[in-house]
Amino acid sequence: MPRVIAPSMLSADFGNLDRDCRMVNRSAAGWFHLDVMDGVFVPNISFGFPVCKAIAEVAAKPMDAHLMIIEPWRYIERFAALGVRYLSVHYEACNDRRLRECIKLMRDRGLGVGVAINPETPAEVLIPYLRLIDFVVVMGVHPGYSGQAYIPETTEKVGVLAEMIAGAEADCFIEVDGGVSTANIAELERLGAGVFVAGSAAFSSADPIAAIKALKEAK
Ligand code: DX5
Ligand code: ZN
Repeated sequence: MPRVIAPSMLSADFGNLDRDCRMVNRSAAGWFHLDVMDGVFVPNISFGFPVCKAIAEVAAKPMDAHLMIIEPWRYIERFAALGVRYLSVHYEACNDRRLRECIKLMRDRGLGVGVAINPETPAEVLIPYLRLIDFVVVMGVHPGYSGQAYIPETTEKVGVLAEMIAGAEADCFIEVDGGVSTANIAELERLGAGVFVAGSAAFSSADPIAAIKALKEAK
């Protein structure tokens, strides 16, 4: 797949959210990434439905919501109703029955079906689900905050996962979330990742349009 950059709106300026959404619309980004945190699954609280709705009203590109929350099955319908195109729930937030329930709820609503794994979760746990889902979100940092240092072991994990996906003959892409930069994006892509979330790499630049273009083109 062509490289997709998904700016994480958690790093946007919430006093100028409309401006920052329009910037993403004009940029080389492919998607909007929405980081929803509940203060329970992760230590931080980010934003919920009102902010996602405000973004949805301006976003001219697909929205990808990443649920860092407990009991994600309770909220899938509401994210679908907001118009998100891709949705991911955390493997660690579900038992097998609940994860299958989430996958079915997302599938029934026509969403791109994603499962995210934390840095300490081995890729192998996803083997039973690879043929049921559309993408895996590999966390490159401990979820909860943007601007953290990339965990180097993530790179090898992406390679392992890409081989597992090929071995399972699954139709599944890999999204890397956390610590993505122009320094690691090309190697992650070479190993099999296709979607790259960028928080600080996009928004902490004085020229986010140029920063997103640099991520899109980095070799
Ligand atoms: C981490 C979030 C990420 C994060 C990315 O909990 O899921 O999307 O905001 O931010 P950077 O790119 O700064 O690591
Ligand atoms: Zn995220």
